[in-house]
Amino acid sequence: MSDVKQKSSNVVWHDTQVTTAMRETLNGHRGAVLWFTGLSGAGKSTLANAVEERLHQMKARTFVIDGDNVRHGLCADLSFSDDDRVENIRRVGEVAGLFVQAGVLTLTAFISPFRADREKVRAIVGENFIEVHCNTALEICESRDVKGLYRKARAGEIADFTGISSPYEAPENPEICVDTGSDNLSACVDQVIAYLQAHGVITK
Ligand code: ADX
Repeated sequence: MSDVKQKSSNVVWHDTQVTTAMRETLNGHRGAVLWFTGLSGAGKSTLANAVEERLHQMKARTFVIDGDNVRHGLCADLSFSDDDRVENIRRVGEVAGLFVQAGVLTLTAFISPFRADREKVRAIVGENFIEVHCNTALEICESRDVKGLYRKARAGEIADFTGISSPYEAPENPEICVDTGSDNLSACVDQVIAYLQAHGVITK
């Protein structure tokens, strides 16, 4: 449950006949969130998509929730101010929690720069929250500059840019830390899949 004050009264929680455990049995794997965090250009979306592809081949039920995409709809009203980033991650955390209840292997790709916000999502999702730090150094992200945003941020054309004019708080104890700066993509995918197997999230 989130720490946002509920404004609606006279609403009653409904339990469902089909439970998460029943959905997980049907799917043949647990529901979980792989929460990819890291700087812009660290490779979060690329890795999340590659992991999803591998899981899909293994016949798992998967879904990627991507920061850039969500900001076209669910979070289109949010900027990159600290407060709006907090709200962005709160909404996505709640949605990811619903996906876990649906028994889906959910992969989220958000900078999610604030440790406290990621920990709030962990509190919503519980033991099925798997934090994946895409640990590419700022210099590498900036030298790649795939979207040209670092150049614009340095030129003062984008305010509050993570790593330049807005902070990024790296995870202290992530379940998985991938070196997306130097390891190749397939090695990073192997590392994530091996974690899921070792922890019984997937059994194949
Ligand atoms: S978060 O901080 O709220 O988690 P989110 O992952 O949704 O960010 O969005 C990050 C993406 O938005 C980046 O990959 C980049 O393409 C784009 N973007 C645009 N402006 C900014 C900015 N000021 N800081 C960081 N990313 C930005």
